[in-house]
Order: sequence, then structure tokens, then C-alpha cells
Amino acid sequence: MAPEKDPAQEIKELTHRINYLNYQYYQNSVSEVSDFEFDAMLKRLQDLEEQHPDLRDPNSPTQRVGGTITKNFKTVTHRYPMLSLSNTYSEEDLREFDKRVRKAIGDEVEYVCEQKFDGVAISLTYENGQFVQGATRGDGTRGDDISANVRTIRDIPLQVHGQNYPDLFEVRGEVFLPLQVFEELNTEREEAGEQLLANPRNAASGTLKQQDSAIVASRKLGCFSYSFHCNNSPFQTHAESLQAIQKWGFKVSDTWRKCGSIEDVLAYIKEWETRRHELPIATDGVVVKVNNYNLQEELGFTAKSPRWAIAYKYPAMSSATKLIDIQYQVGRTGAVTPVALLEPVLLAGTVVKRASVHNANEIQRLDLRLGDTVFVEKGGEIIPKITEVDFSKRPADSQPILYPTHCPACGSELVRSEGEANFYCPNEKGCEPQIRAKLEHFISRKAMNIDELGPKTIEQLYKAGYVSNAADLYDLTLEQLAGLERMGEKSASNILKSLEKSKEVAYDRVLFALGIRFVGSTVAKKLAEHLPDIVALRGATYEDLVAINEIGDRIANSIIEYFQDPEHVQLVERLQAAGLKFKGEISTVEMESDKLAGNTFVISGVFESISREELQQLIASHGGKVVSSISAKLNYLVAGDKMGPAKLEKANKLGIQILSEDQFLQMIR
Ligand code: IVH
Repeated sequence: MAPEKDPAQEIKELTHRINYLNYQYYQNSVSEVSDFEFDAMLKRLQDLEEQHPDLRDPNSPTQRVGGTITKNFKTVTHRYPMLSLSNTYSEEDLREFDKRVRKAIGDEVEYVCEQKFDGVAISLTYENGQFVQGATRGDGTRGDDISANVRTIRDIPLQVHGQNYPDLFEVRGEVFLPLQVFEELNTEREEAGEQLLANPRNAASGTLKQQDSAIVASRKLGCFSYSFHCNNSPFQTHAESLQAIQKWGFKVSDTWRKCGSIEDVLAYIKEWETRRHELPIATDGVVVKVNNYNLQEELGFTAKSPRWAIAYKYPAMSSATKLIDIQYQVGRTGAVTPVALLEPVLLAGTVVKRASVHNANEIQRLDLRLGDTVFVEKGGEIIPKITEVDFSKRPADSQPILYPTHCPACGSELVRSEGEANFYCPNEKGCEPQIRAKLEHFISRKAMNIDELGPKTIEQLYKAGYVSNAADLYDLTLEQLAGLERMGEKSASNILKSLEKSKEVAYDRVLFALGIRFVGSTVAKKLAEHLPDIVALRGATYEDLVAINEIGDRIANSIIEYFQDPEHVQLVERLQAAGLKFKGEISTVEMESDKLAGNTFVISGVFESISREELQQLIASHGGKVVSSISAKLNYLVAGDKMGPAKLEKANKLGIQILSEDQFLQMIR
């Protein structure tokens, strides 16, 4: 038998190897081992750490997946204050800045232009090559120590790569939630009937303040590093330090450029005004920095910001228009949300007729009135929003908007629980839009996938009095269906077949289909994994539920409340009697072939005949894997319309095969 390895030695070797492989993967897009081998190494390290907690290194690569709970973040003082930048919005101001700089330090000035990332500033401290602290900006002098959360961000090295680094230094950067992750998160929230996240910046900031670092890990935050701080810096220029920190394992966006003159700076700004939309993070301008550190020192600081740097901000994409009306929509969970109807206006290339107002507080905060001229803006948000009222244009006789006290659909008195921004219609069982939205959710593709039924038929069935909850669907008869307007026998029988087929849908999707508040598809899967049947779920106590990873207070309470309602219990029992699955295996993608097995795909752009989601499902159902970023080991890039040129360039550079929509569809036919 081989002699047992010393655990300390084995931990050290595994840590070293995994760190190296991570560096190769994330910085150089090279995979030296298979995912399987990598996972096995990580698992072994986790096991060893569990057996020998005293040998656990706080910077172990196992910390990337999180698991540390921080109850209260410690306040820490920044070694170098975290200042802000002075902003400018015009070419004229930039030329003034250049003049001031040249007057102070002479004409031999070189600038570095960078993107102004719209995320959350972070300060990262390293001692002897080890990450020791990650802190938020706070008030600029003191911030929160969020080290455990920072350790989960893969763009941030826990151990500096290479050798030539100072004993003590700080790197600063911007943490962000990639736009794609933001959209996915919001889709999930929408499904779960939760309030949507307003924009990626708030989402990133909220994520960084999570107490459970496992949640942070699941959000896949990114970080672009943009500055280096150290006493006795080994570098002469900012550009040199950017290159060095990149070699050490920090992610530096390769969008920065040295500019020899203000004309070059202006050209950079112009170029990136459109190109910035290719980046995985929202940006709102360009930061211009004097490159040479000695010259930076000569220029010095004002009380708040350096004299050697300035931020040029792109004009916000905003337009003025008239507020015609406010509509109140009742969602599946009864939440009543105001939507502003606007006089159509062109904004950032699209015609905007509606804008979100989020909730009642927002109407008050903006002091909105009908007939007001308002500014609508499209920031990092997907839906445009009203940012301001032009009070000078307010009609003399305008009246404040009175938020409805009763449901616009059923007339029930609205309720608002403490701490909630939304009003709710409590008439869950009698309010038409709620009932219909619940049924539409039930039949949707990610739930029961009853594709022969659509919102139109649901409306007809409801109006005819045949269906008012999901269980009623399974009592439908051929006669009832065929008797509906514009419905033939054939379609009616297809609907019945489709309902029959839905009885094979896996348990977690049935759970999701029930539409319990805060139970989206991911949560449903988690629940089904831990509580293998409906009896276990119904019987679960608050403690049982919160013991499940990722199930928090709100979800647990919502589930308990759901099953306290006898009508819900009856609904579940009827669905069970109809033959739906309330236990057993969890859904996997149904395999259609293994034609794409072993291949990875990145999807980019928009497609003509197929949605992105369908494309993803097709790839998975033919055995392929969809990944989010282009790396050397990627097999195919499926390119649609409006794909960013940067992605295309990267794929070309790495020699990755690019497929059009048609070519891809050919592949699986
Ligand atoms: S350098 C003295 N570079 O902008 C401040 N900041 O208004 C030096 N930011 O708190 C900061 N992108 O969060 C710098 N490429 C970039 C940046 C950047 C975004 C943010 C940062 C900072 C704020 C300053």
C-alpha cells in the first residue's frame, strides 16, 4: 500500500495546483485538465479541510464556492483614502483639464484612458502575495470588510501569481454583476413573483453585502481591476502597473489605451461611446488618467479628488415626454404595479411608450401628476424609467395621483404588509387577472409545458366558467373544449393529449407550476432535492426549510403560509388524484440526441427563427453545453444579429468555429 501522504503537504500541493489551473483557465483561457479531474481535486481538498480544520487556509480555492456567514461586517480604515473623480460632460471641459495639466507639468504628458465601469468600488489588500482583505469604499476613509464575499469572485486572485510583487500592496477595482447574469436573475424573480432588481449596479452592491458567501458565489460577480497602490511602487507609470497586475492574476479590462494627446483621448471617447455596449458590464463614461506616477504626484489632489484624473460621462440616454396615464397591473401574486403610459418618444434608438414606476412610493417620490412632462431614461435597466418631472411645464390645474385603494380588476381593498413596497390584492381566488396569470404560469414551458393551451384559450375557458384553477384543467372534456369559439375537434383533442402528457412532468416542475410566492424554478429544484415528496414538503417546519441551502426566511414563510390554506391543500390533492407527479425524480433536459455531446457553445446576438432560450434548450437536449464566455477551449460560437464585434474578434483570434443560426440548425437536423 502506498504510504499515506502528510495531510498538510497534500493540502499545500493541491492548493498550489488548483490555483495554478484556475489562473490558466481564467487568465489564459487554457484548460490543462478535464472538468472531472479538476472537480475531483477540489473535492479532495474540501474533504481534507473538513478532516483537518486547523489546516484550512483562509485563501484556499475551496473558498471560491463560499459558505462563510458574516453576521456583521467589520469596519476597516483604508490605508489610502478612496477618493472620487471629478466629472465632466463636455469636450470643452476635457480640453480645460488638459490645459491645466500641461500648465502644471509641461507638454510632455501622456494619458491612459479607461472605461468608467458602473459597478461597486472595491479595495483589495495583499500581504506577501496573499489576499488579506477586501473592503467596500464606505465613506472613502472607512469601509466594510467583506473579505469572505470577495473570496468567491474568481476575477480576484487569492494568491498573487508570479514572484515580483511588493510585500504589501493594494489593488482597486470595480465589482459588477455581468449583464447576462442580471437578466437571468430577473427572469427568475419574475417567475417567482418577486420584485425585479432595478439595475445591475444595485444588484452587485446588494450581493456584496450578503451575509452568506455561498449566495455571493452563486451570483458569479466579476471584477475589473484598475489601480495599484503601494509605498515605494516598483512602477513608473499607471500603464506598467496595469500590465503587472494583469500578470499577477487580476482581471484588467483590455479596453484601456495610452493616449499621447487630448485629441487621442477624444477619439477614444468617441470610439467607445458605441462600443461600450459590447462589454459585459454597464459603463457610463471614460476615465482619463495621467500615466506617469511622478507627474501624478506633482499634480496632487483637491480635497475630494485627484487633479491627475477626470471622468468624462456620456450623456444619459434620456428624453422628455408627456405622462398620459398610469395603469395598474395585477400580477400573478396579486402585486399591483403602476405602469406609466407615455406619449411615444424616441430614446436610444427605440420608441418608448411605457415606463416602469416600480411602486406607490416612487409616484410620491417623483411627485408625479398626469399631464406632467417627464424625463425617461434608459440606464443599465432593461425597462426605461421615469427619472424626473419637469415642474416648469406642469399644467396649473394638475392634481396629485391618488394611488388606488381598491383592486382595479376586482374591487377588493388592497393591502400592504409592513416593509413591502407593493400593494397587493388579497382576492387570490376571485380576481380575474390573478387567476388567469396563475393558469398561464401553470401551463408555461418551464412549468407544465402544456403547449397546446395558450393565454387566449385560458381566457375562453375561464370566461366559460370551466376553469378557475389548475386542477380544473384536468377535468376538461372534449365536448367542453370543442364547444369553444374557433376551436375544432382536432385542436380540442390535442389539448387533451397535451394535458395527458403533462402528467409526466417531473416533480420539481410541478412544484414550480403551483406558483407559490418566491418559489422560482431554481428554488423548486432545491426543495425537490431535499424533500422528495409533497408530504415531506407539506409537513416541513420553518426550521426544516431554512436548513436547506439557499432557502431563506421569506421563502420558508411563504411555503408554510401556502399550505396553511385548505384550498391550496385541496388543489394539490386534486392534482395528485389527476396523476401529476408529486414525488420522485427531478427534471433533467429531455435528450433528443447526443449529436452535440462533448461540445461547448456560446450564444451571442439575436436570432430570427428561434429565441435564445429555445436555442439553449436545443443545445442541451442534443447533449451540448452552453457556456457564457469565449475561451480557447470553446468549440462553437452561435452568432446572431447584433452580436458585439469584440466577441467576434476574440472568437476569430482563438480560431473558434462560428455558426450562423442556419448552420447550427443544420447541425442538429
Ligand atoms: S480610478 C481617485 N478607474 O469611479 C479615484 N475609477 O468616481 C480613482 N470607477 O469610486 C478611481 N471605473 O468606483 C477609476 N477605470 C476606473 C473606474 C473607476 C469606475 C469608479 C470607482 C470610483 C469612482 C470615482
